[in-house]
Amino acid sequence: MEKLDRSRRQFIITLISLLSGLFLLRKFLVTGKARKKVLLSVAKADIPPLGALVYRQSRVAVIGGEGPVTALSLVCTHLGCTVTVTPQGLTCPCHGSAFDRQGRVLKGPADRPLVRLPIEDRGDHIVVLAGG
Ligand code: FES
Repeated sequence: MEKLDRSRRQFIITLISLLSGLFLLRKFLVTGKARKKVLLSVAKADIPPLGALVYRQSRVAVIGGEGPVTALSLVCTHLGCTVTVTPQGLTCPCHGSAFDRQGRVLKGPADRPLVRLPIEDRGDHIVVLAGG
């Protein structure tokens, strides 16, 4: 009986060690970039050079310009309303915060910039990845 308990205990310890090893191996092999969720795929030709594409459902704006394309979360950093994109800039309809095309705060009450989302270049299109 004691021998059976010992072999059962040994089996459980071996199983836990094996599962822990597999978990660590998976964490080591899968990079953080590969695990990020793709929010959008956008054809580069569709991005207006001095404008923005707004994806209201995803709450994301893909902004073209003289520099590189940027993707901003349209979740206001004040209390989470959806920021509106206009030719004049980005404004929050709830309490009036204003942001520039890079997401920097121009006017409060928001005191943090809009979250800039990672972008991957995939030839003729870009993909916007979930931040964080
Ligand atoms: S939620 Fe945007 S300014 Fe308050």
